[in-house]
This record gives sequence, C-alpha cells and structure tokens, in this order.
Amino acid sequence: MDKFVIKGGRPLTGSIPASGSKNSALPALAAALLTAEPVILRRIPAVRDIRTMQRLLIDIGSTVEVTPDYVRLDTREITSPEAPYELVKTMRASSLVLGPLAARAGRARVSLPGGCAIGARPIDLHIAGLEALGARINQSHGYVEAEAPGGLRGARIHFDKITVTGTEDLMMAATLASGETVLENAAQEPEVKDLADLLTKMGAKIEGAGTSTIRIEGVKKLGGADHTIIGDRIEAGTFLVAGAITNGDLTVTDCPVEHLGALIVKLRQAGVEVTEDGSSLRVRVSGPVRSVDITTEEYPGFATDLQAQYMALMTQAEGIAIVTETIFENRFMHAQELARMGANIRLDGRRAIVAGPRELTGAGVIASDLRASASLVLAGLAAHGETVIDRVYHIDRGYERIEEKLARAGAEIERVD
Ligand code: EPU
Repeated sequence: MDKFVIKGGRPLTGSIPASGSKNSALPALAAALLTAEPVILRRIPAVRDIRTMQRLLIDIGSTVEVTPDYVRLDTREITSPEAPYELVKTMRASSLVLGPLAARAGRARVSLPGGCAIGARPIDLHIAGLEALGARINQSHGYVEAEAPGGLRGARIHFDKITVTGTEDLMMAATLASGETVLENAAQEPEVKDLADLLTKMGAKIEGAGTSTIRIEGVKKLGGADHTIIGDRIEAGTFLVAGAITNGDLTVTDCPVEHLGALIVKLRQAGVEVTEDGSSLRVRVSGPVRSVDITTEEYPGFATDLQAQYMALMTQAEGIAIVTETIFENRFMHAQELARMGANIRLDGRRAIVAGPRELTGAGVIASDLRASASLVLAGLAAHGETVIDRVYHIDRGYERIEEKLARAGAEIERVD
C-alpha cells in the first residue's frame, strides 16, 4: 500500500491547475447509459473512483475508450443491468446507475451501500423516488431491484432531505419517463447543473437545474453528445487551503471560481488574501491567519467536502474556531489524526472546537476517507519534520496525482510503496 512522506514547512508558490470535477464526472459517465449513441466526455479526471465507474459501465455493457483528451462511451445494449456489492462497497456513487438502468432497460439491480466512514449514507431517497416514478421495488439479499417493464412515468417528488446523487439519479431516470417530473427540494450543487447541461445536449428537456425545483419533460429517446466537465471545486479549494496553510503565494488555474464563493469569503475573513483573475484564484498570506467559524451546508453553503481541509488550516489560526458539520454524522475522523500532530481540537457532537495556533509536528497518521486524507496532507505540509500518511489509496479516489501537483508548487512530498 502506498504512503506519502512529506517534509513540511515549505511555503507553496507558483501555480497548480485544477482537474475536472470527480463528482460531476461520475454522474456524467452514468448518464451515458441512457442512450445507444456514443457520448464523449472531456476533462474526466484520472482518479480511482472514475476508473471504478468505468469498470462498472463495462460490466453493464458499455464500450469505454479512454484517451488523454476524452472518454468515449458507447452503450448500444445493456447486457447486465446490475451494480454488484464488490463495486458498490468501494464506491457509493455506483448507485448512480440505478435511475439510468431502470429508465433505459426497465430493470436495475443495485447493491445497497451499507455503512461508510463518514456516516450512514443510505439511498432510501433514490429508491422512494424511483417508486414514485412507477418502478416496482424489491429489496432483498442486500440488493435493491427496480422493475419498470412498461417504462417510468413522470411524478412530483419532494425530497425529505437534500441529496446530491439522489437528485442526479432521479433527474436521469425522469429524462426517459413519460410525462412531466418535478423534483422539489432538489440539490443545487454545480454538479447537478453540469449533469443537466449534458442531458440537455443529449436531447433531454430539463428546466431549473441549479435551483431547488427541477422540471423534466420526459422524451422517448436520448442521443449522443460531446461534453466538457466543469472544474473540480473541491480539489481547487484544497489547493487554496494548501497555499494558505503554508503561508505561501499560490495560484490555482482552470479553477471554477464561481463555485468557490463560500470558501473564498471564509478565507478572506481569516486574513488570507484571495484575488481572482479570470479562471484563476491566487491566495497569499502575509500576516497572521485568524480563526473563523464555519458550518457545512448544502450548496451554495460551505461544502462538507472542504470541512476537513479547513479544519487543518484553523489549527494554524489565532483564536478559537468552531467547525460544525451538518451533512454527515461522522465526518471528524481527521480530528484525532490532526491531534496526533499537535493540534488542539475538542469534539462535541457535530461540532469541533479548534484552538490555535498550535505548532504541528510530523507524525505517522492514517488516512480514513478521501477528504480526511487531504486534510492530513495539508497538515503535513505545514508541520515541522516528516509526516508519513498511510493508506493514501483514499486520496487517489478523488485527487489526480496530488503529490505531483503539490511538488510542482514546491512541496516536499513523495509517494513510497
Ligand atoms: N441521505 C439520505 N438518504 C438518501 C440519500 C442521502 O438520508 O437516499 C443523506 C445522507 O446520509 C447525508 C445527506 O443525505 O447525510 C446528504 O447526502 P447526499 O446524498 O447529498 O450525498 P451523496 O450524494 O452520497 C455527494 C458527493 C459527496 C458529498 C455529498 C454532499 C458525489 C459522488 N458524492 O454524495 O462527495 O460529500 O454529496 O455534498 O457527488 C467526496 O467527494 O468526498 C464526497 C463524499
């Protein structure tokens, strides 16, 4: 298993490019199941979750061609409308094939995800939505089976809780349902909007994506499309925090600036200088960083996927910062590891109380999930001495060659076997 060895204390300078968004690319790949024509997707990040999704699509019947410039998917026929436990347990986003398979093949069999490092994360809302669209649902042996041999039919669906992939899954299913579907209390994340843009290019009729009410008028058939995925706001945000935590002067290029509003506001309040220039964001730290509270929320609020990285920064800030996690019930696994490096963090239910600044010292730490791992990398960059991060396969799920990108900006980070 790979590890990262980081020698901390060097300010990051220069520039790092953002990759395409993992969380936009995953539903886009699943959307290719909705048509028998080729779909070309550009700016697909080369990360492990994407490879897992491509493997799943091949099992289902797609031909997948991966080139440096694009991924081409061709699903003339669905040969096996199934997502097995072996894949779903490694990547919960596999459940994104449920809606497309039920809509196109009239049948889907998808493993229930089970527990997860950051919370329970059930898919009950995906399932209830499909049932509302007329699918017959059967749950047994750890699998959910949806059947709609005569096709899905449009419905009004109100989400009890805002769910990103749930919104995406049902939006995809509704594109091929007969009549109109209205999704209320829908997720407003940029990734939902990007998926709607792709589906629209494929011939879907969708209004309101990016707001809390999405209307989809079903069509008989969807066609091929050529689509470029948006930039990864979470990866870009991670690099911005990396610049700040190392007291550096770092520019993130190809950056989805308009999707990073909540982070930019907090960084500026904390005393980090953030300047925009087209699609680039530059962070500079010249004075002390101050503690600023955050509460994670659905978009456009502060992203839960940046909470761990921001917490690492707050260990270096003057004062007390309260970090409140409202999206997932168990997303503070990084706090214990940061504490091993010298951080002063007290957990109180959904809140973490971070007192800073505390000098961090290099230590051996274990990555527990994707974003927690990113926060440990950031802490390692700021720490004195050597940090060894074990189980970096978590970080490879969602960051494209992070060690190479950081090294280009002056970080001393090495991958060892
Ligand atoms: N929820 C339910 N029932 C459902 C679906 C969700 O109770 O049927 C709950 C979840 O347990 C959670 C909340 O609703 O408490 C929000 O979950 P959501 O469904 O929005 O999360 P997701 O769609 O599974 C996506 C991202 C996550 C990101 C969350 C929140 C993808 C592939 N994943 O997950 O990304 O944290 O939205 O923004 O888009 C990551 O990239 O590291 C990551 C975990």
